[in-house]
Amino acid sequence: MANSNRANFESRIGVILASAGSAVGLGNIWRFPYETGQHGGAAFILIYLFCIILLGMPVMISEFLIGRRSRANTAGAYQILAPGTPWRWVGFLGVLTGFLILSYYSVVAGWTLEFVMEAGVNGFAGKTPADFAAAFAEFSKDPFRPLIWLACFLLITHFVVVRGVKKGIEKSAKMMMPMLFILVLVLAGCSISLPGAQAGLNFLLKPDFSKVTADVILGAMGQAFYSLSLGMGCLCTYASYFSKDTNLARTAFNVGAIDTLIAVLAGLIIFPAAFSVGIQPDTGPALIFITLPNVFQQAFHNLPVLSYIFSLMFYVLLALAALTSTISMHEVVTAYLHEEFRLTRKKAAAFVTGGCFVLGVCCSLSLGVWSGFTVGGLTLFDLFDFVTAKIMLPFGGMLICLFVGWYLDRKLVYSEVSNDGSLKVKFFKAYIFLIRYIAPVAIALIFLKEMGNL
Ligand code: PFF
Repeated sequence: MANSNRANFESRIGVILASAGSAVGLGNIWRFPYETGQHGGAAFILIYLFCIILLGMPVMISEFLIGRRSRANTAGAYQILAPGTPWRWVGFLGVLTGFLILSYYSVVAGWTLEFVMEAGVNGFAGKTPADFAAAFAEFSKDPFRPLIWLACFLLITHFVVVRGVKKGIEKSAKMMMPMLFILVLVLAGCSISLPGAQAGLNFLLKPDFSKVTADVILGAMGQAFYSLSLGMGCLCTYASYFSKDTNLARTAFNVGAIDTLIAVLAGLIIFPAAFSVGIQPDTGPALIFITLPNVFQQAFHNLPVLSYIFSLMFYVLLALAALTSTISMHEVVTAYLHEEFRLTRKKAAAFVTGGCFVLGVCCSLSLGVWSGFTVGGLTLFDLFDFVTAKIMLPFGGMLICLFVGWYLDRKLVYSEVSNDGSLKVKFFKAYIFLIRYIAPVAIALIFLKEMGNL
C-alpha cells in the first residue's frame, strides 16, 4: 500500500545517521576487529573495502530504490513493484529475518546493559582474568538476569519505534550517532597512546597477504553484507521514508564510509589496549565480555579512575551501537504489521516487542538451563545466528540483486537512481553490471561457503 501521507525523514543528515545507525552495530565492534586481526590486518581491510564498494554499495542502492519507489514496508514494496508475482516472498523473507535477528541480537544487546551497570558501579575493579571468565559464564547461564536486560533493551527499542519515524527513529539517531562517534574517537585515542600499543597497531594495520585465502575473501564479503545491514530490507524500509530528492548513491556511499570508519576505529580501541598488556585478543562474545574488561583493568592499573571511565565509555558505546541497529530491525517488522494489517503503530510495535521477547527468552535460556536442547549440534541461540546471518541474509541479498538487475524495468531503476533524471549518474552502467552479474555470483559463493561450513 503506497500512501502519500507516509512519514518522511526530515533532513539529509537524519537520513544518513539513521541508516548508518542501522549499519553500525555489534558487528562492527567485535566481529570486524577480530576478523581483521586474524586475516592479515590491513590486507583484510583492503579486501573488505573492495567488498563494500563492489558488493555493498550496489546492493544498498538497490534496497534504497525499492523502498523509496514503493514507499511501503518491505513486504508491501514487492507487491507494489511486482504485483501478483512470487517476488512478494522476498519481502516476507526480509520481515521474518528481521524478526529472528532482532530476537537473538537483543539478548547480546541486553548483556551490554549489564556491563554498563557493572562498569558504572566499578564492579570490574580488582578482578582477575579467571574472575571475569567465571562471572560471564555465571551471568550468561543465569535464568533471570539476562532476561531482565533483554526486556529492558527491547522496551527501549520499542519506545523509540512507537514514537515514529521523525520523533523516534530520526531524533534518536541524531542524538546517539554523534555520541557514538565521540566515544569511539576518544577511546581509540586513549588506546593508541598506551605504552606498548604499537604492537597492536602493527597487528591490525600491517598488511600480511600470506593470510589471504579464498575463504578470507568470502569471509570479508559476508562481513560487509552483515555489517551494512543488507539482505533483509532494513535499509529498504528506511528508504521508504526518504524524500524524492535524497541522492541514493551518495547516501549509500556515506553510510558505507561511516560504517567502515567505525569498524576500523573499534579495532584501534581493542588491539592496542590488548597488546599493551600482552593479551592476545579472543574471538566472539568472549572478546568483548571477558577479555576486554580485563584488558581495561590492566591497561590503566596505575590510574584506576581511567580504567573506570574507559570501561564505562566502552560499554555505553556498545549499547548505543546495538540500540541503533535493533531500532532498525524492529521498524522493519513494525512497519509491516502497521501497514499490511492496518494495526496502529503502537499495537504493531507491541506485537513485535512481545514476540521478540518470547523468542529472545528461548535463545537466552539456550545458553544456560536449556543448553541440552540442540538442533544439528547448535543451541537455539547459535542456530538463530547461523540461519539468519549466514543463510537468510545472503539469500535475501541475492534475490534483491536479481529483482533489481533482472526483473525491474531499467527505466524505472534509472529514474530512481537519478531522481527522475535530475542527477547525473555516470556509474549507472557499472551499477547495472554489478547488480546483474557480479553481486549475485559473489553472494552465491558466500552462501555456498556457509553451507559448506555446516
Ligand atoms: N549491521 C548490524 C551490525 O553490524 O551489528 C547488524 C544488522 C542490523 C544486520 C540490521 C542486519 C540488519 F538488518
